[in-house]
Amino acid sequence: MRLVSTRYVKEGAFLARPVINAAGQILLQADIMLTSAYIERLQRLGFDVVFIKDDRLDDIEVHIALSAQTREVAYRTVNSLMSQIESGNTKELELEFVRLTIQEMINDLLYSHDIITNLSEIQGFDDYTFHHSVNTTVLGLILGIASGYSEPKLLELGMGILMHDVGKTKVPAQILNKPTPLTPEEFEEIKKHTLYGFDILRQNRDLSLAAAHVALQHQEKWDGTGYPRGLKGSQIHEYGRVAAVADVYEALTSKRIYRPALQPYQAYEYIIANSGTHFEPRMLSIFAKHVAVYSNGCGVRLSNGQRGNVIKQNKSFPTRPYVRIFYQGEEALRMPIEYNLAEHPALFIVEVDNR
Ligand SMILES: [Fe+2]
Repeated sequence: MRLVSTRYVKEGAFLARPVINAAGQILLQADIMLTSAYIERLQRLGFDVVFIKDDRLDDIEVHIALSAQTREVAYRTVNSLMSQIESGNTKELELEFVRLTIQEMINDLLYSHDIITNLSEIQGFDDYTFHHSVNTTVLGLILGIASGYSEPKLLELGMGILMHDVGKTKVPAQILNKPTPLTPEEFEEIKKHTLYGFDILRQNRDLSLAAAHVALQHQEKWDGTGYPRGLKGSQIHEYGRVAAVADVYEALTSKRIYRPALQPYQAYEYIIANSGTHFEPRMLSIFAKHVAVYSNGCGVRLSNGQRGNVIKQNKSFPTRPYVRIFYQGEEALRMPIEYNLAEHPALFIVEVDNR
C-alpha cells in the first residue's frame, strides 16, 4: 500500500485501509474502489491523503497508533468531559471513564510496533479539540513508554495530558478561535488556561496532583521563558516536559481553519531546533527514536531527482528511512531501486510527493 493525495488519486484505485472520521466511524471500507464521487467527498471532508493498494509496495507495514475502537472510546470520553465542564460541573468529573480510556490507549500502544509511523489516520476538518487532546496523549504516552514509565505512571501522565487543555473552556471562544494575531491582552487571557485548568483538575480529589500539573505546566519552557510561572529545567515536573513536546508537535502537524498543517518533517525540524530552549534535550532524543517523520508508504522525492516511497524506518534516524524508488524525474525506472538512506549520507529527502 502507499499514501496518495486525494488531489491526485485516480478513479479505480482501491483503498488499502478504511477511511475513519474523528468519532471512529468508518466512512469508506478498505478494498472499496474509488469513484469520482468518493474522491470528491473525501476532498470536501478535508482528507488530504488515503492509503491505496499498490502491488509494488505490498510488503509495507503501516503501524497506526490507536485502533478505531479505542479512538471511538476516547472521542466519547473527551466529549463527555467537555460537556460536564461546560455545564458547570468541575468538581465531580467522571474520571473513571478517563481512566479506562487511557488504559485502553496504553494497551494499544504497548502492543503496537516500536516506532509509530502514523499517529492517526484521521485528517478531516472536524473537531480540533478532540484530535488535539487524543493525539497529544498518544504522543505523550509513547514518550512515557520509551522512558520506561510504570503503568501507574503512564496512567497518571495520560490522564493529565488528555485533560491538559480543560482550562480553555473558561477562555472566551472569540479569543481562542481568533484567526488574526492576538493583542497582548488577549494573549494574557489565553495564558490563563493553564491556571484555570489546574484549578478545575485539583478540585477532583481522585486525580493525582501530578496529573493536574500537566495542565499547569505544559506551557513552561526548558529555558524558563514559558508560562505561567517561568519555571526552568527540572523545576518543571517531568510530565510537563513530556506534554510540552507532544503538545507542540501535535499542534504543528494538525491543520487549523487559519493555516494548513506543517509537514511532519517541518514540525520535527522545529522541535529539534528548539532543543534546550523550549524542550528538554533528553526528551527529544527519545522522540526521535519513536516517531516517524516520513511515514511508511509516504511518497518522497530525493535530492538526486528520484521519486518513490518510504518502505521502512531507521530507529534513531527519523529523517533517513528506507525508500523504494520507481522514477527518475518523470521517467519510470525499469527496475525499482532501494536505498537505506542512513547509509547514503549524500542523498536526502527534499520533498513529500504523494502523487
Ligand atoms: Fe494548552
